[in-house]
Amino acid sequence: MTSLTQSNRNTRPIGVFDSGLGGLTVLTELRRQLPKENFVYLGDTARTPYGSKGPKTIARYADECIKFLQTKNVKLIVAACNTVSALGDATLNRDKTVPVIGTIESALKEVAKLPDCKKIAVIGTEATIGSKAYEVAFNRAMPDLQVDSLACPLFVPMVEQGILEGRVFEVVADHYLERLRLIRVDALVLACTHYPLLKSALESYLGSEVVIVEPSKSVAELVTKSLEETGLIGAPSGDPTMEYFVTDEVSRFDYLARLFLQNEEVQALRIEDLA
Ligand code: DGL
Repeated sequence: MTSLTQSNRNTRPIGVFDSGLGGLTVLTELRRQLPKENFVYLGDTARTPYGSKGPKTIARYADECIKFLQTKNVKLIVAACNTVSALGDATLNRDKTVPVIGTIESALKEVAKLPDCKKIAVIGTEATIGSKAYEVAFNRAMPDLQVDSLACPLFVPMVEQGILEGRVFEVVADHYLERLRLIRVDALVLACTHYPLLKSALESYLGSEVVIVEPSKSVAELVTKSLEETGLIGAPSGDPTMEYFVTDEVSRFDYLARLFLQNEEVQALRIEDLA
């Protein structure tokens, strides 16, 4: 009886949410590292982008996403959106019934792995960079590290238009990042869900000596640790399930999701009202 109850608890899904599509980069990494887990993904496509909104609005949206995922009986929630994660633990873990893991700690973990890293730049949305959350977290954890932060808002719509390299990328990269070529950083932290799709263009733009850091890599490690600590790591039983929910038309999401999921077919369900 006890082991059955435990197994039921373990097979509860992991909830992942984002302002829209970008969180699929984090979901991909989670599914790769936790192949036995069931997942529920929520993309708040009706209200995206979050990155140009104010902190109170973002906090309210995040709260509503978390509440929705709780109705799906999730055992843990990943705030895949860096803009949401920049609000900080106090906001995300207000209701302590389900742990919520964001992206900042993962970024710290990834940078800590780099040998001889003295100077980094963090790029993200206007809200993420404006919050200084990454800078503060890095300064606290690694006081000797020099941290520069730059908002690159146009990268998000570019990725959603499939502009991942070429002339338009070069012009926009010059606009935001030319300075980085001069100050020479050791690493560039991609503090936005969409930017991993620009990784190879950014590598060519900045040169191979700059390490490109993707926080999503360590998110799965933190999720695994949390599930192990709470005894909720997935019990293998049949094929894992994957459900997608969105707040706007499903067609655009289903179409663009293939760009983020290496052509995997997605059939999302629309929720009429998240609030
Ligand atoms: N998901 C957001 C992030 O990672 C980018 C898109 C948006 O602005 O909503 O910051």
